Amino acid sequence: MECEVIRFVPAYLDEIASMDLEIFGKKEAYPRAFFRQAHDILGNLFYLAKTEDGKIAGYILGGVNPETGQGWVIVLGVLPGQRRKGLAKKLLSFLLKDFEKKSISRVRLSVSPENSAACGLYKNTGFDGSHIIPDYFGPGESRIIYEKSLSPSR
Ligand SMILES: CC(C)(COP(=O)(O)OP(=O)(O)OC[C@H]1O[C@@H](n2cnc3c(N)ncnc32)[C@H](O)[C@@H]1OP(=O)(O)O)[C@@H](O)C(=O)NCCC(=O)NCCS
Repeated sequence: MECEVIRFVPAYLDEIASMDLEIFGKKEAYPRAFFRQAHDILGNLFYLAKTEDGKIAGYILGGVNPETGQGWVIVLGVLPGQRRKGLAKKLLSFLLKDFEKKSISRVRLSVSPENSAACGLYKNTGFDGSHIIPDYFGPGESRIIYEKSLSPSR
């Protein structure tokens, strides 16, 4: 099934909140209000993957650190039934293109060392994950920081 990548609009708030819960579970899902504010604050760096039948199958949200000018992938998720079809790779390519248009030359993200799917994805897309921060999200919650250089278009 082909997927179209579209920008998030608030009409998708309910759908994205329930999708996020399905992907990340109760403990790690964002509250619905977070997505509304992310839309206002992070603007265009927020994409959805929409299936041919009009359903949302995944999303990516990015941000830019105003001090360092570094891009971040804040979150990326694809519904379990829609995985291994290239959706995450497609969503990521849209966000990275936006960063390049904004003259951002480096992008970062954090991933649990136990998340083999995400680690596989980022290695597959040219990220380097040699940097580990112990207890990044608190005790026992270490994260690998993946980084990638971009080719800013201006
Ligand atoms: C990680 C995640 C976003 C990948 O989404 P996806 O749409 O299935 O990924 P893609 O189909 O675009 O995969 C692209 C490449 O990533 C790698 N990859 C993806 N899933 C993988 C897995 N389970 N194991 C190993 N490598 C994997 C592969 O190299 C794959 O290419 P291939 O299918 O040609 O081998 C998805 O598994 C997910 O939503 N997981 C839960 C949420 C999460 O962990 N998000 C990331 C942390 S923010």
